[in-house]
Amino acid sequence: MKIEVEICCGTACYLLGASQMVDIENDLPDGLKDSVEIIPRTCLGLCERDNIGKAPYVRFNKSEVMCEATEEKVISRIRELAAGTKEA
Ligand code: FES
Repeated sequence: MKIEVEICCGTACYLLGASQMVDIENDLPDGLKDSVEIIPRTCLGLCERDNIGKAPYVRFNKSEVMCEATEEKVISRIRELAAGTKEA
C-alpha cells in the first residue's frame, strides 16, 4: 500500500511554505518514488484550529498531521514510514 501524503495548498499553507513542497515528488529518492502518493489538497481545515501547531500542514495516511512542514521534514517522515519504523 502506498504512503499517502496530502499537501495542503490552501492559502494559509501555501503562503507559509507549501508552495515549496508542491513538487516534492521530483525530489524523492528513487527508492521511495513508487511507494508514495503525493496529493495536493485545498484547505484541510487545520488552519482554523487553534490547538495544533502552525501551517503549513501535511497529512500522512489520512491520520497523522505534520505542522510547520518542510520538504526536508516530509521526506524524512516518508523514509520512516517506508521503513516501517513508525506507524502513521
Ligand atoms: S490552508 Fe492549509 S489547512 Fe487551511
